[in-house]
Amino acid sequence: MGRQNQRLSQMVADLLILCRMDSGMEKFPRTQEPIFLNDLVNDIAEEFGFLAVATKVKLVSEIRVSQSVKVIGNMEQLYRLVSNLVVNAINYTPPEGEVKIILEVHLNSALIHVKDTGIGIPETEQKRIFDRFYRVNSDRSRQTGGSGLGLSIALAIAQLHQGNITVESVPNQGSTFTLKLPFF
Ligand SMILES: Nc1ncnc2c1ncn2[C@@H]1O[C@H](COP(=O)(O)OP(=O)(O)OP(=O)(O)O)[C@@H](O)[C@H]1O
Ligand SMILES: [Mg+2]
Repeated sequence: MGRQNQRLSQMVADLLILCRMDSGMEKFPRTQEPIFLNDLVNDIAEEFGFLAVATKVKLVSEIRVSQSVKVIGNMEQLYRLVSNLVVNAINYTPPEGEVKIILEVHLNSALIHVKDTGIGIPETEQKRIFDRFYRVNSDRSRQTGGSGLGLSIALAIAQLHQGNITVESVPNQGSTFTLKLPFF
């Protein structure tokens, strides 16, 4: 009951963000603070370590830069964004698989890749997974109990931060979601 309540209030919060963005009320993150992505990636790898252990998936982070990577934005929202990608990667990867969170920079962008060796997403579905409430073959994935909002929220937050998310995936081999954010 407690968990159901939590899920419901999360869903209401998610729908509120999406509505505010639709109506044009929300064009930028509420707060604009400096965020170090190195810390964010390491914190998330640590926070979801338990979930990964519980589902027998290996979770690793790989910081491919020697300097700190700073972006301007809302910490809570960016944390939420990357968590959604990582939780998906863990949930849609069978036991003995691996999830890697990679941080790198390219030109004027910071890139965070969340790469898994999981079930993958057929090419025809890859565009639709960012739609609200859309879940690939909902019978199969219903066991994870999601609502299908995670990626639409992630994309909305990326766009609020002038960024975007792309996906590359091969069924039965795995998926890589890449978040691109302008950095300073
Ligand atoms: N890493 C991944 N590997 C395979 N399929 C994925 C992955 N990430 C997302 N998907 C597919 O995209 C669909 C949409 O993802 P999304 O995160 O929006 O919703 P969800 O995980 O089903 O529910 P929730 O609202 O709890 O996040 C998922 O149901 C799943 O079918
Ligand atoms: Mg999800």
